[in-house]
Amino acid sequence: MRRPRIRGIRLRLALALLVVVAGSLGVVYLIVVPSLENELINAKLNQLEADAQKVARLYETQVGSEQEFAEKVASIFQARVVVFSILQNQPFVFGDSNTAASLDVAHDPIALDATRSRTIERGTVERGGRRFAEVAVPLENEGVVILLSDSLADPIASLKLIERRLLFAGLIALIFAVVAGYLVASVHAKRILRLERAAERIAGGRFDEPVVDTGNDELGDLADAFERMRGRLGKLDRARSEFIANASHELRTPLFSLGGFLELMADEDVDEATRQEFLETMREQVDRLAKLATDLLDLSRLDAGRMHVEHEPVDLGEVARVVSAEFGVLAERRKHVVETDVQGSPVARADELRVLQVVRALLDNALTHTPEGTRVTLRAWADREHALIEVEDDGPGIAPEHVAHVFDRFYRGDGTIASGSGLGLAIARELVEMMGGEVVLDSRSGRTVVRVVLGAAPTSVAAERAAPVST
Ligand SMILES: Nc1ncnc2c1ncn2[C@@H]1O[C@H](COP(=O)(O)OP(=O)(O)OP(=O)(O)O)[C@@H](O)[C@H]1O
Ligand SMILES: [Mg+2]
Repeated sequence: MRRPRIRGIRLRLALALLVVVAGSLGVVYLIVVPSLENELINAKLNQLEADAQKVARLYETQVGSEQEFAEKVASIFQARVVVFSILQNQPFVFGDSNTAASLDVAHDPIALDATRSRTIERGTVERGGRRFAEVAVPLENEGVVILLSDSLADPIASLKLIERRLLFAGLIALIFAVVAGYLVASVHAKRILRLERAAERIAGGRFDEPVVDTGNDELGDLADAFERMRGRLGKLDRARSEFIANASHELRTPLFSLGGFLELMADEDVDEATRQEFLETMREQVDRLAKLATDLLDLSRLDAGRMHVEHEPVDLGEVARVVSAEFGVLAERRKHVVETDVQGSPVARADELRVLQVVRALLDNALTHTPEGTRVTLRAWADREHALIEVEDDGPGIAPEHVAHVFDRFYRGDGTIASGSGLGLAIARELVEMMGGEVVLDSRSGRTVVRVVLGAAPTSVAAERAAPVST
């Protein structure tokens, strides 16, 4: 299937060159040959005209018969000389250097024209299948017309020779064009074939071999584009494999744990208190699985570009209060102190559900990755252009070597409790960026702040201007 297609390209390029060269040669032939013919005939006529005028002057001084005169000057000027006498506006042959037969010029059109117009006439005539150049000079005083006639055989033979040479050169140019076109096309066809193979390799999921074409032309550019595509697809492919491996690993842990507990509970010797304890742990694992499933779904939506976020006014003060109330029980259990600090009325231009999801992830981190009794503050405020919400804790902080990675998918810091899957901050950052904002992390020993900066809703700016809040 593939080979004939490539050959087709070669053939098509060779044919295209053939058509172009043949076309140009045809145009040259059609323009050059006729104009050359005209030039040659004109030159001949000019020569005859100059000679005819000299002959006319000689006639005026001639002695002897017209026949003798014609023969004499014909030998001087190398042309047939015919002397016509004009009788009743008709030329009659009076003397002719061609003594064999004068009948052929009896009705010569050029001589006839000169007789009627009484001016010099020139042109070509055909006699006996041959072409002649002729000039006729009327001598009114003498009542004669002198005609000089010469064969055009020589110039026409030269013209035919030039024509043959042109055709021959054209043929050679055509053969050269076809061969050169075929060879050039072959080189390009090979490069195209290499690119096609590379594209097939990439389509088949093999990203290891680079696409190389050093050509400094469009095909070279195409190869560069393929190479960039290979790089990106390779990276995406590795990320996808890693993602699947991580996700499977994260799913396996709670599933194995659930399986183990189910087996233990099948044992009839388990007492009621232990059974309750098992059930509690199993419920936690199911919660973890449900959260993981939701996070994975969010990630796949984000990757596929199918995550839709609204851009509507969201009261961040309200968000802070709602989330802090939601986590009240967990905070109490872990003996954390959660405070809420809302200044003014910070209204962001964002998606309320997604903002709630992000703040939940941040507060969850502040409660789960810090020791008991840590103080956590949920703060919301606004400046002229932004509405901000942050979660601050006075826990041990994130080690510097982890700070650069905590936003990576599935990244968990050392000693982090096993329940997390390392997706919270990654999803939070992507959601906030979709809403046009950014997440800023500032962590050092004894203080960690994760701040969400969102664009202020127009109403919020208006409200701020109407009633500025002192900070
Ligand atoms: N407030 C914090 N204090 C200390 N370490 C933190 C804090 N917030 C995040 N981290 C570190 O950053 C890592 C990544 O956080 P992230 O929220 O992405 O994942 P996770 O909390 O481990 O799991 P998940 O949120 O998916 O349940 C955490 O494992 C933890 O080590
Ligand atoms: Mg988390």
